[in-house]
Amino acid sequence: MKIAASILSANFAKLGEELLKASRSGSDIIHIDIMDGHFVPNITIGPSVVADLRKLSDIFFDVHLMIDNPEQYIEHFAFAGADNITVHFEATKHLDALINKIKSYNKKASVAINPATSICSIENILSQVDMILVMTVNPGFGGQQFIPYTLDKIKELNKVRKIKGYSFKIEVDGGINLDNINQVVKAGADIIVTGSTLFNSDDMKNTIEKLRQNASKIIY
Ligand code: DX5
Ligand code: ZN
Repeated sequence: MKIAASILSANFAKLGEELLKASRSGSDIIHIDIMDGHFVPNITIGPSVVADLRKLSDIFFDVHLMIDNPEQYIEHFAFAGADNITVHFEATKHLDALINKIKSYNKKASVAINPATSICSIENILSQVDMILVMTVNPGFGGQQFIPYTLDKIKELNKVRKIKGYSFKIEVDGGINLDNINQVVKAGADIIVTGSTLFNSDDMKNTIEKLRQNASKIIY
């Protein structure tokens, strides 16, 4: 299980420091939310900010594109230093072509699905991707409540993965905290995105340790 710190909940006036703090506190991955005010009702940062952050650290950059016309921006985020680029199933008409485009820059290529999107919608692309991001809130904002029915989708995806022998990772994003991390990990999640739980805590290192402990607890 890996922890991906979502810098959406960081203080954007000191983003570099916040990134380094998450990395030094034990995050395995930095999750960077890109929002355009169209695909989701919020606006964040573009490739130039990602490129500046890249100069600070070698930590894995997991770039989550919540934008319309993602085709136009793959190259920019690839050159900015993304290690993984995740595109939304709901944001493109040509998912297969988009995945191939990401791979052509030697980046990990992943697909995200909104809470209301079924696993069967992405069945044909599962053999082609490095990771599936199951959104556990409606994308757009940090600090929202985990949507309970998404747990069944994680279980279903994990089941399909086992039956078909696929190698993609399962990432979950939205509303993950100390109380529900165990459930999502047991359901099959490998990469846990967490924003407000980390950035609102007084001791990020301790919170990451507790998340890891709770994730591996055996609950009968
Ligand atoms: C939501 C973003 C998430 C968000 C998660 O659209 O994709 O990455 O930052 O934040 P928390 O952990 O606060 O729900
Ligand atoms: Zn995200």
